[in-house]
Amino acid sequence: MKFGALAAVQMVSFSLNPGEILGMIGPNGAGKTTLLNCVIGIHKPTSGKIFLNQIDITGMKPHKICRMGLAKTSQIMEPFMAMTVFENVLVGALHGGRMRMRPATEQTEKVIELVGLKQYAYKLSGSIPVPARRRLELARALASGANILLLDENMAGLNPHEIDEALEILKKIRNSGKSLIVIEHIMRVVMGISDRIIVLNYGSKIAEGFPEEVVNDETVIKAYLGGKLSSLKVA
Ligand SMILES: Nc1ncnc2c1ncn2[C@@H]1O[C@H](COP(=O)(O)OP(=O)(O)OP(=O)(O)O)[C@@H](O)[C@H]1O
Ligand SMILES: [Mg+2]
Repeated sequence: MKFGALAAVQMVSFSLNPGEILGMIGPNGAGKTTLLNCVIGIHKPTSGKIFLNQIDITGMKPHKICRMGLAKTSQIMEPFMAMTVFENVLVGALHGGRMRMRPATEQTEKVIELVGLKQYAYKLSGSIPVPARRRLELARALASGANILLLDENMAGLNPHEIDEALEILKKIRNSGKSLIVIEHIMRVVMGISDRIIVLNYGSKIAEGFPEEVVNDETVIKAYLGGKLSSLKVA
């Protein structure tokens, strides 16, 4: 994916297996968000191909890709501020599966329960605290019925207790049969839930493997400041 002369992502090849949690790490500006935005159709890649099952989805519009079962949460939270939490999630449910109102409402209730947002359901989404907004991002993606979720730093800004709760929610989601790609800077999260990890640096994939392999990989250690994985946060 090029932006003018800048190759934000280049020569990256990877796959996500059914039921898997794939962690994606890399220093700031490594190309993680750009890569997943290519996958869900926000960017049309300059070259390369993206397949969902055997179907070539390269360059398709995001709403079409979402209806095919792929949804992403945004690193920059962007709910419809003037709508309640419930309404925001309902938009996800109505959009993704082209459901009728009754089943979409039921789906919304279920998802709000799952992510623990019940107490905020009828509050305006612009008025709720950051941790709840992160859950709302997740809820909107879930409500679409997508079976593949791409989470872009969905735990950023959470305290350790909130991270524990978020991890429990992710485990529940994975146990319901969904596959996930999780971009995170928080070491404990990446190590704790990823089946495999891929590492990006300057737009290229520099490592891939099981969590313990990846954190001990010299190229990965060098890619992080001071050679100490110091830009991976410990929480
Ligand atoms: N729309 C855009 N136009 C121009 N350049 C962009 C655009 N989006 C991203 N970039 C550039 O592409 C590179 C990769 O950015 P990206 O946001 O994908 O990194 P990231 O790995 O998600 O970083 P972070 O961990 O900070 O979220 C950066 O150099 C960034 O400035
Ligand atoms: Mg990013």
